[in-house]
Amino acid sequence: MKNTEYDFESVVDRKDTDCLKWDLFDDEVPMWVADMDFKVAPQIQKAIQKRANHPIYGYTIVPDELFEAYINWWDSNYNLKMSREDMAYSTGVMPSISSMIRCLTDENDEILIQSPVYHVFYYVIEDNNRKVLENELIYEDGVYKIDFDDLDEKLSRVKLMILCNPQNPVGKIWSEEELSRISELCKKHDVILIADEIHCDLTDPGVKYNPFEVNDNVIRCISPSKSFNIAGFQSSVVHTINNELLEKIKTQMHVDSSDSCNVFAAAAVIAAYNESGEWLSQLKKVIYRNKQIVKDFLAAELPVIKLVECDATYLLWLDCSAIDVNSKILSEFLRSNQGLFLSAGIDFGECGDNFLRMNIACPEKLLIDGLQRLKGGIISLNNIKQF
Ligand SMILES: Cc1ncc(COP(=O)(O)O)c(C=O)c1O
Repeated sequence: MKNTEYDFESVVDRKDTDCLKWDLFDDEVPMWVADMDFKVAPQIQKAIQKRANHPIYGYTIVPDELFEAYINWWDSNYNLKMSREDMAYSTGVMPSISSMIRCLTDENDEILIQSPVYHVFYYVIEDNNRKVLENELIYEDGVYKIDFDDLDEKLSRVKLMILCNPQNPVGKIWSEEELSRISELCKKHDVILIADEIHCDLTDPGVKYNPFEVNDNVIRCISPSKSFNIAGFQSSVVHTINNELLEKIKTQMHVDSSDSCNVFAAAAVIAAYNESGEWLSQLKKVIYRNKQIVKDFLAAELPVIKLVECDATYLLWLDCSAIDVNSKILSEFLRSNQGLFLSAGIDFGECGDNFLRMNIACPEKLLIDGLQRLKGGIISLNNIKQF
């Protein structure tokens, strides 16, 4: 996209940088893991270079300026007021959720999630010897909805629910009404809710994000890592107005050593929130444009795959039910046949098995390459199926 002061069009070679996305295989277009193939805002790179110029990289403290950056960002973008004393620093959303699972539930407890959902929710629950309880989303006429009767029943069995808003992988921003119904049910059953809001800034341009309400039962996990492509700094914040809960979480995160800040993280976060808002606005337009490209391409060239309409994240959820091949086989076929790596829907829960997840946070040239490979793969698959 031209006419912006930022470059979202150049394809940056990420190979040989120990990059999880690009350094697995040669000649592969990876459109799976949730990071972006865009250069960060120049303000962030400058802040890192400034810190790197100082030649000592010892242990570091979390500066108040980092918390102030979060507070101002959430106040000005979402009109949500946070106080410094209600926040704790963590080395990432998943490390903090893992610590919360350990200090707020017991072994063998069930923990509620809404599937299909970010696959690491499953691992973090099971790795901590807890059990996943799924409140499956209802998929009807291409739209995802919450099954509130099932949620009501299942919340009576748990102490903890993990909500994903916006939802990864379906890309949905839950409405104010849906969020307040969830909140009421959590209060009714005395359930603590973790709101993972890591994708909240990545909405379609002009679309409003609805944060979960602030109340005593809610712990919010927030981070600029997705929005500003700085996940490699491993940094996030936990927020709750329930001081008793926060103290427990802080103690557990300390036990788990997941509360310390690496030497570059604070500089990146502060430059992102305080100086890179305009970059994010431009990025959102590019992602929205990419979404339209995928939508038009599928409609014109590959109508067997349907795009699930979404208003947030750069992760597209592709309905492949008409292809009649399970998602693991389909994703492995696309990878071996075309060098295109998309996530298999089943990774996000059994109910995701008819889907593929496609990360479109990349320059247009790469996106077109990925789409052509997708088409080539489906044509090859059909040829094979005919014999
Ligand atoms: C919903 C969700 N939560 C958490 C994470 C990971 O967060 P972190 O890297 O801070 O642990 C991701 C990454 O894709 C995600 O999609």
